[in-house]
Amino acid sequence: MDVRIFDTQLELDAFAAELFTDIVKSKPNAVLGLATGSTPVGIYAKMVEKYRKGDVSFADVTTFNLDEYVGLKPYNDQSYAYYMNKHLFAHIDIPDTQTFLPNGMAEDLEAECAQYDRMLLERQIDVQLLGIGHNGHIGFNEPDHALSGETHVVKLKDETREANARFFASMDEVPEYAITMGVGSILKANSIVLVVRGADKADIVKQALTGPITTEVPASLLQTHPRVTVLLDREAGRML
Ligand code: GLP
Repeated sequence: MDVRIFDTQLELDAFAAELFTDIVKSKPNAVLGLATGSTPVGIYAKMVEKYRKGDVSFADVTTFNLDEYVGLKPYNDQSYAYYMNKHLFAHIDIPDTQTFLPNGMAEDLEAECAQYDRMLLERQIDVQLLGIGHNGHIGFNEPDHALSGETHVVKLKDETREANARFFASMDEVPEYAITMGVGSILKANSIVLVVRGADKADIVKQALTGPITTEVPASLLQTHPRVTVLLDREAGRML
């Protein structure tokens, strides 16, 4: 793993954005795996800035997001579809038809998962962006004695719902279920960029990067991937 620690958020965001835009510049029809949460917001802002400067075009890019809540409509401001439009898609030249997220409103969620996997099988993700949950989850692959390789519906752990409740009006509004890309699909990406900030994630970063490889810390499975870049701020990296 290539682990880099940054002094400032701006430096980290700029580095991550450049990593993604460099891939798009060398391969205009690149497939990007994207993530949500608070961590990537500044990275997307930098990517938008580069697009506005004419540095890069996303016209031929395809994107796949890791996950989506079950039961939130795309225009609900807590849905990941809304988030992606707000922070990235609405500001760059990527056509709507080339951006994919699992549909958490699908009537048949199992069929939706299978359909998402079919699309993922047809294309190789060039670079997958990841954040990490406090319990080591990636996407919404929660710690468990076994993990699903494929896209699936997951019941969110209370700790995950609590961590994400800060974005909702109340805990009751946080969905109980989500659809997530499986760890197998994540690990099939050609390269992976894991971004983590904050002292509250220092311990899980240490476990994920240097601890045993275990499904109880889903991010530890990244140790098995040959091309992972880990971008940390000082606080997140302080236990390494
Ligand atoms: C959610 C998302 C994850 C994300 C995690 C951490 O649970 N499903 O993909 O990595 O939150 O989010 P944050 O960056 O806000 O700490």
